[in-house]
Amino acid sequence: MNEVVRPIRGFNDILPDESARWRRVEEIASAVLGQAGYGEIRLPVLEQTSLFARSIGTSTDIVEKEMYTFEDRNGALLSLRPEGTAGCVRAGITHGLFNGAQHRLWYRGPMFRHERPQKGRYRQFHQIGAEAFGTPGPEAEAELIALSARLWRRLGIKRINLAVNSLGSFEDRERYREALVSYLQRHAEALDADSKRRLQTNPLRILDSKAERTREVLSHAPRITDFLGHDAGGHLSELRARLEALQIDHTVDPFLVRGLDYYTGTVFEWTTEVLGAQDAVCSGGRYDNLVAHLGGRATPAAGWALGTERLVLLVEAEDRLPSPAAPHAYFIAMGTEAERLAFVLAEQLRDRYCALRLILNFGGGSLKAQLRRADKAGAHLALIIGEAERKAGQVAVKSLVDDGGQDAVAVEALPAELERRLPEIVATVSAATL
Ligand code: HAM
Repeated sequence: MNEVVRPIRGFNDILPDESARWRRVEEIASAVLGQAGYGEIRLPVLEQTSLFARSIGTSTDIVEKEMYTFEDRNGALLSLRPEGTAGCVRAGITHGLFNGAQHRLWYRGPMFRHERPQKGRYRQFHQIGAEAFGTPGPEAEAELIALSARLWRRLGIKRINLAVNSLGSFEDRERYREALVSYLQRHAEALDADSKRRLQTNPLRILDSKAERTREVLSHAPRITDFLGHDAGGHLSELRARLEALQIDHTVDPFLVRGLDYYTGTVFEWTTEVLGAQDAVCSGGRYDNLVAHLGGRATPAAGWALGTERLVLLVEAEDRLPSPAAPHAYFIAMGTEAERLAFVLAEQLRDRYCALRLILNFGGGSLKAQLRRADKAGAHLALIIGEAERKAGQVAVKSLVDDGGQDAVAVEALPAELERRLPEIVATVSAATL
């Protein structure tokens, strides 16, 4: 036997049962976002490494140690995208979208980070992201958060909590950074190694530390919410008022900072207790300087991205799984002539009813064996052409779910019989032909 080819660690296959759930999540997200005027943008998975270094920040974990970066055959330094916002902004600049107009965009697709794989954390994972460009006011974040809340409702998710914070204006942040560094320097001996290093490079990220002693030190640290000036404070209050008007429960978490450097002002995160350590399902915030920083015309912006794997796990945990649709019918045929006829009829029926889910038996077998396969597939009906039916120009239609019995119908009468037994396939015929 040849050696088995193994997949790459942290890169997953999504098999048909599971992909049906994914499709459902993506369809609902697309509907919720489309309803509010967000248009889908499809973006490349490879970009210049410098795009991510300049946007996410050179001293972030993502850029420092998690990107898949390589030189291509021409010596260009490229990275697989670790997230979608940078590419979305790059595309907006490339296509001249940032000319003062407002744009609401969303995207979905694989992202790549070389993290240690565990439940809910993968090296290739997927995001659905939404970005609103051109609106400086808190109505942008309020709408973005409201859309995510609607998505949870439509998916039947309840165990999910929202935390919001503000990183303040540039000046607020500088004042806070000074106060935080001065406090942490006084307790430097209790900090973990990573946090000690961050004191020099990116002190706000220390607030995110999971190390126990660092967390203890942090519990008495200055809080950014006490440093917010009039503008940032007012922005956060108005955002909160709008969330309250929609009865979207939330807490203010002054330690919420997020691991990407482009945020300015609002940050937020939806977490759940259901998934263990990887509890962040959807995260985002405002990034008013990024478009200009990447060479575009200054354009305020805000957005979020959700982890599709985590959302699908959460939908499963909440037991709200849309079950993969069972086939309506399973076509059984005995003998070569009957198989040919069944093949043609199956294709004609699929042509006629685009909502009909019809599986054709492959590989022959006895009536009993084929019926067993029909049962296993979960089909409602078996359509059977044996020698007798073929000679009589008939198809036997047998219910597999109740005592609906078995009728032999003429081949020409098969569509009418299916319409009688499966009225749902007819509704879509008219919708499709309209
Ligand atoms: P992020 O927090 O890095 O933000 O990622 C967003 C979401 O992606 C996380 O909340 C999590 O659900 C999921 N995620 C991240 N890493 C992994 C992983 N290794 N495996 C599985 N899921 C993961 C961003 O990416 C920003 N671009 C969000 C944003 C959009 N901010 C403004 N607009």
